[in-house]
Amino acid sequence: MVSPIVTDMKLQFALHPMDTAFEAFRQAYPAFDSTSKLDELRATEYARLDRQGHVYLDYTGGGLYAESQLRDHLALLSEGVFGNPHSKNLTSMAMTRLVEQTREYVLQYFNASPDEYMVIFTQNSTGALKLVGESYPFGPGDTYLLTFDNHNSVNGIREFARSKGAMVTYIPVLPPDLRVDTDQLAQALETARPGKNNLFAYPAQSNFTGVQHPLEWIAQAKSKGWDVLLDAASFAPSNRLDLSLWHPDFVDISFYKIFGYPTGTGCLLVRKTASQKLRRPWYAGGTITFSSVVANDHYLTPGPAGFEDGTVNYLSLPAVEIGLKFIESVGIDLIHTRVMCLTGWLIDRLLALYHSNGNPLIRLYGPPNTHLRGGTVQVNFFDPEGRLFDCNDVERLANEERISLRAGCHCNPGAREVALGFTKQDLEDCFRDKDRLTFEQFLEVIDGKTTGALRASIGLVTTFADVYKYAQFAETFIDRYVTG
Ligand SMILES: Cc1ncc(COP(=O)(O)O)c(C=O)c1O
Repeated sequence: MVSPIVTDMKLQFALHPMDTAFEAFRQAYPAFDSTSKLDELRATEYARLDRQGHVYLDYTGGGLYAESQLRDHLALLSEGVFGNPHSKNLTSMAMTRLVEQTREYVLQYFNASPDEYMVIFTQNSTGALKLVGESYPFGPGDTYLLTFDNHNSVNGIREFARSKGAMVTYIPVLPPDLRVDTDQLAQALETARPGKNNLFAYPAQSNFTGVQHPLEWIAQAKSKGWDVLLDAASFAPSNRLDLSLWHPDFVDISFYKIFGYPTGTGCLLVRKTASQKLRRPWYAGGTITFSSVVANDHYLTPGPAGFEDGTVNYLSLPAVEIGLKFIESVGIDLIHTRVMCLTGWLIDRLLALYHSNGNPLIRLYGPPNTHLRGGTVQVNFFDPEGRLFDCNDVERLANEERISLRAGCHCNPGAREVALGFTKQDLEDCFRDKDRLTFEQFLEVIDGKTTGALRASIGLVTTFADVYKYAQFAETFIDRYVTG
């Protein structure tokens, strides 16, 4: 990065603009230096990124794996002989031991007492959420309370609630920061009906704005009679979730978001007392100890297996322990520190971009600083006349620079609708003829409004060079006009 210049036979060194920016960044964020271990890992375990010139800024979409995770998993599989678990033959018992060991390790990683919590393996966060949705004993007089800011897999639970006659209530988020109005939350939490089933769901970190909704709400809601579902899918990859401090009833996790490999594994961490409330709508192979066709009845397997339909993803599960151990060897607090330093710099840099006529280039959706937020930076780009660049076009142009961003609504319609200023009328029009509308017609109804925004998400091995390259890419839009 330092280029030699020869003047008057003297060798001097001129700093590259990125070096100058890096020095200023280090001074503004002195904690960053303590995370240099991650630069070393980037050069070793993640060398493929720089070898191929990738700027990966989609960690909320999916984490990246270290090469050693693959090697360790492959070595385990190459050396072992493993059969389908839950039988008493040697190879099956060997596998059962590893599956149960992984279960224990997940509890240990989240500092969850085995007396209080159990781990149910699922395919992903969505699988965990669906398990809660279909099994929670919603009925008339019950309530499902949730924040506008939620992933669709949490929103979707409302269909189970409604179909069983429960009431669904949303708590709005307020622009510009898109945090929940705490007065409205307090009022809503007062509405839990004694003796009824009251479920409150929210994300520990928004996958749209990066807002971190307070974990203190868990105890507050529980004290008012709510069961609490904490969606930790986008929080867990760069934040410590300590379940000895916080006691949500249900927590969903997608492991690939934390350490990249393997996909297809996730879990529901459930408090044992809350699990007793759940009523499975069916049973399957693996979930029952005894079933009779003649007597037309069954006994559910006690413990987590009663919730794991069919054969678990058994060969992949030991890779979850490998992945968690890798994260522990790095340190989740170190990852957090690094992510927040880089996020703070990127937000400042993007918000400082103006066209020559004084109009801002960027609109940020979410908090403009690092207070109570994570490493998700959601924006749209605007031209000097305030016209919006389609986020999909910007994503495509970023591809040309090998920068991986993500354009869209990110499965979080509530946050998007408030962020982009959609009215109830706008949206009701979209659903009026929904059975007959094609997606293209839907876009016409929505009348030129953007349906999304552009998300950069910072994670485990993001470097300063990555965020710098994104900021440089953004700068190329200065004084550029939307065409067409
Ligand atoms: C906050 C949040 N919740 C839930 C999910 C669903 O995760 P998955 O698609 O892995 O099931 C996501 C995925 O991006 C998410 O960001």
